[in-house]
Amino acid sequence: MGHYSLTVGLSNADQDVLQADVLASFGWAALAALLAALAVGTDLAVRVQARMTVTEATAARIAQGDLSARLPITGKGDDLDRVSQAVNAALERLASVVEASQQVSSDIAHDLRTPLNRLRINLLEAAQKLASGENPEDDLTAALAQGETIDQTFTALLRIAQIEAGARREKFAPVDLAALVADVADVYANVAEDAGSSLAWETHGPMWVMGDRELLTQTFANLIENAIRHCPPGTAIALAVQAEGEHVTASISDTGPGIPVAERDKVLRRLYRLEKSRTTEGTGLGLALVKAVTDLHGAKLILTDAAPGLRVIMQFVRIHGVA
Ligand SMILES: Nc1ncnc2c1ncn2[C@@H]1O[C@H](COP(=O)(O)OP(=O)(O)OP(=O)(O)O)[C@@H](O)[C@H]1O
Ligand SMILES: [Mg+2]
Repeated sequence: MGHYSLTVGLSNADQDVLQADVLASFGWAALAALLAALAVGTDLAVRVQARMTVTEATAARIAQGDLSARLPITGKGDDLDRVSQAVNAALERLASVVEASQQVSSDIAHDLRTPLNRLRINLLEAAQKLASGENPEDDLTAALAQGETIDQTFTALLRIAQIEAGARREKFAPVDLAALVADVADVYANVAEDAGSSLAWETHGPMWVMGDRELLTQTFANLIENAIRHCPPGTAIALAVQAEGEHVTASISDTGPGIPVAERDKVLRRLYRLEKSRTTEGTGLGLALVKAVTDLHGAKLILTDAAPGLRVIMQFVRIHGVA
């Protein structure tokens, strides 16, 4: 018997085909994934670029002073949306502050035209008298007084602006509001009596707040002067300082004509006076200073009815631990 050897072989052809198929599928899949990623990436880049272009253009408009411009919000709530929302909110606040200060400047310009016109008329009349050989002394005296009033008005306006700027907050120290109010009332008791009115005060001290003694004294002086000046003789003026929880509440009431509800916000503005007070002495800056000082102290200022009369309430934050 001869020797035979049997060689069993398996063709690689199928495997090769399979491998090629697998490789090819992987290749296509990789290519498809790459293309998809590229497409998504490009789309994203284009969108971000478009938003950045709009953002840049908006920033340029704002830089040129257009405070009505707002950054676009897509509503997706992504990081860019959140930043844009914060910037838009800041712009909203800025626009309202700028608008308010523009209003203040135009109010001031409008209100100062009257005393400036009076000054011009006084000087014109003095000039006419001089030309016709008359004595212009009366008109010149009136012009001088008018000039002084304008100067005082500007000084008071500047003072209010400085208080609003907030620098005086650095000088804050503990102040016993009960003692301060008693001191101011003591000084004004005779003035009220001379005007035929009465001034009473009730304080349960000490009542400590953080503040500026000089400005607080000026505030209470302004309010007492108002109650004397804008109320008829026979008015009873009452001051009180008391603790209310974490607050120190100071109030001043009178039994005068009061301020109508619709005017209570307006009288806090610079130079605003009720129609009937146009002929009384004053510039209309007393309550604007009171508002600036209470704001500086973080205190609440409320004008309300004393039925009859006006009640002004100021609510300060109380501090403890002062000897
Ligand atoms: N106690 C009050 N009773 C009635 N009206 C008041 C009283 N206090 C203020 N007013 C009204 O509010 C206006 C504004 O007051 P404010 O103190 O700001 O100005 P003024 O007293 O007229 O002038 P100034 O205080 O600058 O000398 C007054 O002109 C007056 O019409
Ligand atoms: Mg006043």
